[in-house]
Amino acid sequence: MIRSPDAGCEQVICNGLMEEGWVVVPDFLDSKTTAAIEAMLRTRWESGALRPAGIGRGRTFQVRPEIRSDQVLWVDNDAPPAPLKAYLESMETLRRTLNEQLFLGLHEYECHLTTYPRGSFYRRHLDRFADQARRQISAIFYLNPNWQASDGGELRIETERGVRSVLPEAGTLVAFRAADFWHEVRRARRLRLSVTGWFLSRPLIP
Ligand code: OGA
Ligand code: MN
Repeated sequence: MIRSPDAGCEQVICNGLMEEGWVVVPDFLDSKTTAAIEAMLRTRWESGALRPAGIGRGRTFQVRPEIRSDQVLWVDNDAPPAPLKAYLESMETLRRTLNEQLFLGLHEYECHLTTYPRGSFYRRHLDRFADQARRQISAIFYLNPNWQASDGGELRIETERGVRSVLPEAGTLVAFRAADFWHEVRRARRLRLSVTGWFLSRPLIP
């Protein structure tokens, strides 16, 4: 767990991904910016704008609440909600840094706003579709002030050194190589809010 905003969080993330393949950064954004994103997501959730998440893509897309029961709203990168702009700019800086330093060839970034209503979870999985390997790096930004261990909803990630738990505390960013780490979201006992995104490699040209 490292925090070093002035030295550039991007560098910390880069080093973590290079050395261990995963990284946790508390206080990735200042608390005011994080709270504004939280308020925006909460409003959208309350107005019914989120939809049950599925597994698979295109024709294999299915809603399977026994596997995942979160709800999502995809972000339009060309017209993002205003409070998300600073976060998207950080992701763009991170994308460039990862390309310069790790030669990952990350072409674009996609993300959705996510809610785990009380009682919901996401079973153990990898962040790659069976028919498409474009997702290179997963990055999740949490929005929940004062999250307690007793609230459940922790991310459990299987690393080389054992299973690690990450509490979805407001301001914390977690990133990992999408194809390499099995992970799950344990049942949340209170509404859990986040921004979930992926850096994608270029589409294959047939
Ligand atoms: C996902 C996921 C983890 C989290 O959406 O694919 O694994 O902590 N999310 O929200
Ligand atoms: Mn995942």
